[in-house]
Amino acid sequence: MGKARIIDGNEIAAKVLAEVKSETEGFAAETGRPPGLAVVLVGDDPASSVYVRMKIKDCGRCGIESFSHRLPAETPTEKILDLVNRLNGDDKVDGILVQLPLPEGVDTISVLDRIDPAKDVDGFHPINVGRLVRGDHAVLMPCTPSGVMRMLDESGVNPHGARAVVIGRSDIVGKPVALLLLHRHATVTICHSKTPDLPGVVREADIVVAAVGRPLMVEKDWVKEGAAVIDVGMNSISREESPEVITTDPTRIRDFEKKGYTLVGDVSPGVVDVAGWYTPVPGGVGPMTRAMLMANTMNAAKWRAG
Ligand code: GUN
Repeated sequence: MGKARIIDGNEIAAKVLAEVKSETEGFAAETGRPPGLAVVLVGDDPASSVYVRMKIKDCGRCGIESFSHRLPAETPTEKILDLVNRLNGDDKVDGILVQLPLPEGVDTISVLDRIDPAKDVDGFHPINVGRLVRGDHAVLMPCTPSGVMRMLDESGVNPHGARAVVIGRSDIVGKPVALLLLHRHATVTICHSKTPDLPGVVREADIVVAAVGRPLMVEKDWVKEGAAVIDVGMNSISREESPEVITTDPTRIRDFEKKGYTLVGDVSPGVVDVAGWYTPVPGGVGPMTRAMLMANTMNAAKWRAG
């Protein structure tokens, strides 16, 4: 029998979307236009297509106008840069999201660096990364990390003085979430594949953020009694195969689900027996990431309008 309180990502995301909706209505009344988000998808990666479709649907739900741009997989980097230039100069566009991963051969860094930092709703531009490191307040922050912080806040988990352990050091999740926890006065450890005695380190944590892409890696006996466990993982596994040999490539998740595979996080759900709080997969961090994209787009629109 689990004792952890389940942090419901769908419920908190619905609250965020409702907040954004009331703000978009005020913005539209004041400026005569809704906030706008341009979504750029290059190629036909099935998982990316699904994500993009969900993002466009969220826009409709909360009063954001979406501008969808689809380019063939073989589009040269220069052509993508041309599109980004146009979107940078388009006044109806407040946010620009280029869905990752871009096809092989595209210079991803050049594309991300070309996005106007004021429209960078992913928070991937070096200017926004720098502002995040510095702890600026009015900054476009990566969506998953800000979703994680919102989940902690909504659950009454205060990072101030807590020991936080982040598993994973990616630019999109691990590093930025560690910074956000640090700014909120947690004592933060970032772990990765070369960390000795990972279970021992995790066992010291009051807050665990798992973002490695290893299915069900964090076991019940890694977790301190009462800890808040935030699972950012999205991995497809089948019951017949052992988790270690299964791909965590998001492009294949949909296919697998159709063939009887299942979506699991980086954390074994058995941790509910010892944890104080737990975010399930699915229905945890995933919906929050999309909701925070809408919140970022609303903020970008407000800041651009002055
Ligand atoms: N692909 C997977 N996650 C993300 C994300 O947060 N932003 C973008 N642009 N692409 C992604």
